[in-house]
Amino acid sequence: MELLEAESDLTCNPDDRGLTPEELHAGVQGQDGLLCTLTDRVDEAFLQENSHLKGVANFAVGYNNIDVAAATARKIPVTNTPGVLTDTTADIAWALMFAIGRRIVEGDTLVRSGNWTGWAPLQLLGQDITGATLGLVGLGRIGKAMVTRARGFNMRVLYWNRTRLTEAEETELGITYASLPGVLAQADFVSIHVALNAETTHLIGAVELAMMKKTAYLINTARGPIIDEKALVATLKSGAIAGAGLDVFEREPALEPGLAELSNVVIPPHLGSATIGTRTKMGNMAARNVLAACRGETPPNVVNPEIYR
Ligand code: GLV
Repeated sequence: MELLEAESDLTCNPDDRGLTPEELHAGVQGQDGLLCTLTDRVDEAFLQENSHLKGVANFAVGYNNIDVAAATARKIPVTNTPGVLTDTTADIAWALMFAIGRRIVEGDTLVRSGNWTGWAPLQLLGQDITGATLGLVGLGRIGKAMVTRARGFNMRVLYWNRTRLTEAEETELGITYASLPGVLAQADFVSIHVALNAETTHLIGAVELAMMKKTAYLINTARGPIIDEKALVATLKSGAIAGAGLDVFEREPALEPGLAELSNVVIPPHLGSATIGTRTKMGNMAARNVLAACRGETPPNVVNPEIYR
């Protein structure tokens, strides 16, 4: 906020909530730049009506809420916040693996309910993380941060990615490439780390879920629409997989009917990057990006650099 106030005539949403489309539209009138969040839809119609904008800076690494092609067509730079939230997001994926695999939330609910009758040999048995097989769907910055964590837990790591690493890189990371069906069929924990786009929407549907082991867990800290949430609820209900840890949802904040009633899911409210340190870094990065765009400079984290060619 200090960075922005020092260099601009700032109009700001004072509340800790997303804006309605009408509020967003009204807010950018007479402004050169927009610093928006992942809940703001910056689509073709919005950009058409607000083609005066000199830059759109997302307060997120994922930018599926912005129609980048429509921005590029109007020579509007779009920026994101890569790197600064990598470890924080991998940490929450790890937290979800433990929370669901070791039944922490179920156990917490039992204790709070007053119905816990004491230690029992078969009570709330879970699955080991140490020594398990981790399947990574996507191996970008966050996927690679998962690999470093997996090392400490002696996990076998399989990955599928649009582009395969070189053999030397695979050896250095100690990971093995497999097809998507191969990863799904072998992993004890499948963790999603791809960006959301047309190719990855419903990448994990009924067919893919059916490939997973009955004892396996699905973890999603990327974007909700990568998983067909209706198919996931049906799969979880039938017990065809063991459980899911989901930080993101298909139609946030709405949930697929039935999801919240399941005891084999852990569902925090999109907290992947939510630490004081990381959100501060993201804010500074987004502020620097939008200010650079307003000055007519190339912003440091532009995702459509072709507009400058
Ligand atoms: C959070 O979801 C982000 O994309 O930064």
